[in-house]
Amino acid sequence: MYTILNQVLTVNELASVRRILAAGDFVDGRATSALSGKNNLQLPIDSAAAREAGAIVLEALDRHETFNLAVQPLAVHQPLFSRYEAGMEYPDHIDAAVMSSVRTDVALTLFLSDVDSYAGGDLVVDTGFGVRKYRLAPGDAVAYPASTVHHIAPVTLGARVVCVLWAQSLIRDPANREILYDLGLLMGSLGGTSCGPRIHRSYWNLLRMWAETSPPDWRSGASRMPVVRTPPSIEPPGPAP
Ligand SMILES: [Fe+2]
Repeated sequence: MYTILNQVLTVNELASVRRILAAGDFVDGRATSALSGKNNLQLPIDSAAAREAGAIVLEALDRHETFNLAVQPLAVHQPLFSRYEAGMEYPDHIDAAVMSSVRTDVALTLFLSDVDSYAGGDLVVDTGFGVRKYRLAPGDAVAYPASTVHHIAPVTLGARVVCVLWAQSLIRDPANREILYDLGLLMGSLGGTSCGPRIHRSYWNLLRMWAETSPPDWRSGASRMPVVRTPPSIEPPGPAP
């Protein structure tokens, strides 16, 4: 499933992240991948700047209803900040399957640069049925299967700055995750109708059936969502009397 997440960051959060990154020391991105042709800059993931900016992003995602419903996050890897200047790119590749004990079910790119401040730099994902290209407004994000081959097209002007991260989902099977996503949306629109209670029950019982709740080994330094939330519109009914 490919999901656009609108306005993940508020205007103030975006300004804060940009200010932190402007003072950060970006290094050669080949430090995290030896893939031939990779050419970008990255903020060292354990740097103070990356952790400070990453905390803002994680807090924003934690409250984002569409992210929680579409991804069903169990764990989120520490966010990574990348910068592509003119001439830089990241050729076709597939992301590592496990990072710091987090299984990478879903990849997420959060765009941080004004779209008219750079040229090129599209995130291009091979869906198996053609490609999708993403170049979103600052503060918006796209979540897509981490199992896909993707690349960053060459930047030809300006600088493209993004935050990338990976999530392990409570729901490993993408098809099951999509069913829950659809049911969650239906609950929001049909909650007050006669269909509401049965959709409600189906959602929560399928979640119970499919959820994997064993947490990764946090001692390895992986990050974690503070709370796995579900949208208010799909809160479960209270305990039985
Ligand atoms: Fe990637």
